[in-house]
Amino acid sequence: MLNFEFCSPTKFVFGRDTQHKVGSLVREAGGTAALVVYGGGSVVRSGLLAQVLASLDAAGVPHAELGGVKPNPRSDLVYEGVRICRERGLDFLLAVGGGSAIDTAKAIADAVPYDGDFWDFYCGKAKVERALPHGCVLTIPAAGSEGSNSAVITKIEGNLKRGLSTEFHRPRFAVMNPELTFTLPRYQLACGATDMLAHIMERYFTNTKDVALTDRMAEALMLSIVEAAPKAMADAQDYESHATLMWAGMLAHNNSVGVGREQDWASHQIGHELSAKYDCAHGASLAVVFPAWMKYVYQHDTARFAQFAVRVWGVDAAGKDEAQVALEGIEAMKAFFVSLGMPVTFEAVGGKAEDIPALAANVVNGKTGHFVELLPPQIEEILRIACGA
Ligand code: NZQ
Ligand code: ZN
Repeated sequence: MLNFEFCSPTKFVFGRDTQHKVGSLVREAGGTAALVVYGGGSVVRSGLLAQVLASLDAAGVPHAELGGVKPNPRSDLVYEGVRICRERGLDFLLAVGGGSAIDTAKAIADAVPYDGDFWDFYCGKAKVERALPHGCVLTIPAAGSEGSNSAVITKIEGNLKRGLSTEFHRPRFAVMNPELTFTLPRYQLACGATDMLAHIMERYFTNTKDVALTDRMAEALMLSIVEAAPKAMADAQDYESHATLMWAGMLAHNNSVGVGREQDWASHQIGHELSAKYDCAHGASLAVVFPAWMKYVYQHDTARFAQFAVRVWGVDAAGKDEAQVALEGIEAMKAFFVSLGMPVTFEAVGGKAEDIPALAANVVNGKTGHFVELLPPQIEEILRIACGA
């Protein structure tokens, strides 16, 4: 196990009816006036936004609203949010939604006290040194932004989808009521389950030795997600499976299972290129990239892939060599994605073979991955493996 520092300061308020506490939670976190950030309308239609605003009113927290955040959130709304916060003197960001709303709120929170362009943080020109406090009411178990130190924004000019990790990105609180996820379309549930599995796998495939504890924790989480996702998709009102997914999504990405080990993140970076180019859902990009990445790299540590196959996917290793077991595990994972209705080929998310060199070349800093470091020619190879033909 490597040395590490881990601080997960977010207060998680989990369970039925918890959204009604949001006003007092903003107050408790020091907010006196809030910008409420939300997406394309699901929280309006469900009545959640009205409940949140009523709770802010009851707690005496004045507020303004910024709706219209799109999946794969864009820079334009960040600039708009900064303008509103500055004009109205708002000092707290409250996201109501999923990763896209939460990440937009995080980016605004960084930008309000900063004199320059917020994109400076995302292209490595500046470091976040202070930020407004922020919290969220989560409506989709997926990105894990409610507990993570990351935010991912797409800059419209140049179509660059880039992530930023800073401890300022940990929300002060996250309200997590599984019932709020009952309205999710099945496809979004599937994308969410895929994303949380991906967050665990980015950490699981490591070169660090002696990480049995976090291996076992990661495996338990993956098994729980594999069990809960089909149940939640089959029964939109099943509280326990939705609750399992909601908490698993947070644990998958607050780094509990990633501490003390080198992490990979190549599949996410390659996936971001697909989302930026084709505007496909983040989870869909991962269902395409991860199996192909695995096929490309498994021989780097066949034993680890065989362990994954046996412990997570129940592959019977008797009489087989490690490579065969490893490959059966990869196929089992891919079959699981298919069973959820996820796309698993490059073409299925809009990919065109002629785009592959540019997609590979565009990956941030021209290389990615730690388990196996990948340069553009290797990334191209992975995208070709992902092609369906
Ligand atoms: O926009 P609305 O109308 O709210 O609809 C959303 C959206 O269309 C819908 N939805 C959410 N909750 C719902 C609902 N529909 C009905 N009922 C509900 N309860 O679902 C769609 C997807 O929402 P979004 O917020 O985009 O989903 P997700 O949480 O998957 O976030 C994806 C974004 O997060 C980034 C991704 O790259 C992507 O941009 N990520 C952020 C991370 C982080 N900050 O730590 C890590 C992840 O790896 C990821 O990169
Ligand atoms: Zn992700």
